[in-house]
Amino acid sequence: MNNAVGEAQTIVLLGGNSEIGVAVVKAALQPFTRTVVLACRHVAKGQQVAATLQREGLTVDVVEFDGADTASHQRVIDSIAERHGDLDLVVVAFGALGDAEVTRVDIAAAVELAHVNFTGAVSSIVATCNRLRSQGHGALVVLSSVAGERVRAANPVYGATKAGLDGFCQGYGDWLVGQGVRMLVVRPGFVRTAMTQGMKAAPFATTPEKVAEVTVKALRGTRRTVWAPPILQVVFSVLRHVPGPVWRRLPLG
Ligand SMILES: NC(=O)c1ccc[n+]([C@@H]2O[C@H](COP(=O)([O-])OP(=O)(O)OC[C@H]3O[C@@H](n4cnc5c(N)ncnc54)[C@H](OP(=O)(O)O)[C@@H]3O)[C@@H](O)[C@H]2O)c1
Repeated sequence: MNNAVGEAQTIVLLGGNSEIGVAVVKAALQPFTRTVVLACRHVAKGQQVAATLQREGLTVDVVEFDGADTASHQRVIDSIAERHGDLDLVVVAFGALGDAEVTRVDIAAAVELAHVNFTGAVSSIVATCNRLRSQGHGALVVLSSVAGERVRAANPVYGATKAGLDGFCQGYGDWLVGQGVRMLVVRPGFVRTAMTQGMKAAPFATTPEKVAEVTVKALRGTRRTVWAPPILQVVFSVLRHVPGPVWRRLPLG
């Protein structure tokens, strides 16, 4: 249960090893926070991440979670709540970039990426919000991407999953208004993490810590969608309207 100034007592990270997700959790930690749950597909790796979060009075639990296994999502969310009580903040950070060279031509690879990033994300968000709505409170942070704002030839399947997820969150977030549940959509640009390792940084590249700073600041306010860094909102308000022939030539990384 959040305290009187909105600090989360229990925080859940779906995609418990995500560098951006972990940075958001660290930035959201308050003296009042009692429990962090890292829900991840590689539990041993999650235990290592858990060690970086340990502090006096904080329980860090690591549970198995597969974003692709949609049939398990409600059970995983409910069992976390049964074990730790009301969920105050849930961060949905799992996802993959995929190999565009492969997903542009290989049906199975394209479907697998779309399934995890879109279907799995939608499923876990619905499962989470079923729980938050029954509690009557709670906040959800969803990692979208600028890649979904205007999908690029560089990685069309990934971009489309983020466009779809973002669109779902906008409508679903509207539906949640008045039900005690807050949805915050975060649209980062290029972030230096394991996901982008070895790639040439795009303009306005940032760090997980900076994304976390923007996210936690937004959670204290009333915004429903934020960009990280914030300048990308202005940049993309122009880029989304640039004619196709120009768009295709832009050096966006
Ligand atoms: N990095 C960027 O430039 C960037 C920009 C915009 C948006 N984002 C989005 O931000 C989110 C976090 O990305 P990140 O940069 O923090 O990358 P990351 O460190 O690679 O984290 C992604 C996490 O997703 C997990 N994951 C992948 N498939 C999964 C599945 N089927 N079930 C459960 N977990 C799964 C991975 O687990 P394992 O550890 O087990 O592999 C990994 O921990 C993603 O949704 C990403 O699309 C990233």
